[in-house]
Amino acid sequence: MKKIVKKHPLAIRWLHWINFPVLCVMVWSGLLIYWANDIYKIGFNNKTVLKFFPDSFYKALNIPFRLAEGMSLHFIFMWVFAINGCIYFLYLLFSKEYKLIFPNKKVLKESWQVILHDLHIKRGLPPQIKYNAAQRLAYTGVIILGFGMIATGLAIYKPTQLYWLCAMLGGYEWARIEHFSITILFTLFFAVHIIQVIIAGWNNFRSMITGFEVLPDDALKAGISNEQLTQNTDTIITNH
Ligand code: HEM
Repeated sequence: MKKIVKKHPLAIRWLHWINFPVLCVMVWSGLLIYWANDIYKIGFNNKTVLKFFPDSFYKALNIPFRLAEGMSLHFIFMWVFAINGCIYFLYLLFSKEYKLIFPNKKVLKESWQVILHDLHIKRGLPPQIKYNAAQRLAYTGVIILGFGMIATGLAIYKPTQLYWLCAMLGGYEWARIEHFSITILFTLFFAVHIIQVIIAGWNNFRSMITGFEVLPDDALKAGISNEQLTQNTDTIITNH
């Protein structure tokens, strides 16, 4: 027997799906701006070992010389990104959803077990509530990155007016490097997130749209009571 259980509240689903296209526009328009002064490279003395985006990349995507377009998109969508992110954070706090997403005491030990499980080195997962320990770390990490993105972005947007913020982040040049590094981390999170969503399958993906998940037979066999199944925050899933 299978059972349909509540998983994601409506607000979380809306805020999550608004964030995705907005972040894509932010990364894209950020690239348009970066191209106007693409100074970052890895190298020593005057030798360049790695340029982050080779010229062929810009040419293939028709990126060159679109600074004004990049700036106008970036400076509009940053408000949507920031407001959406703040509402999401406040929602987590006030709805108590944060208890399901922020790391708990066992998070490091259990994350390691999840990684070993995902690499097919170890069988079985530690019992989890809504998210496993690795997800808790990743999702909390990306929330912190979101705040870092806004802080570093504001610092390089208004370095004179927000001189104190700029100074706290190590000055304009450092704030720009931090903004760029956070973008790379966001992109890495995105890549791993998508792979995990694909591996987790349709049932899991659909739950982020409909809010409901079909609980598999093995979770039911594991002795979960009806009460636990119907209470969103108390649903225990022993296997995923
Ligand atoms: C850059 C964009 C993205 C970010 C920053 C992001 C971030 C997150 C976060 C923080 C959560 C936890 C939400 C919560 O419960 O409060 C989450 C869950 C989820 N995300 Fe994303 N996400 C992004 C894009 C995507 C995309 C493109 C997909 C689908 C293709 C996706 C599918 C999902 C699913 C299915 C869950 C629920 C996972 C589960 O229940 O185990 N996300 N995401």
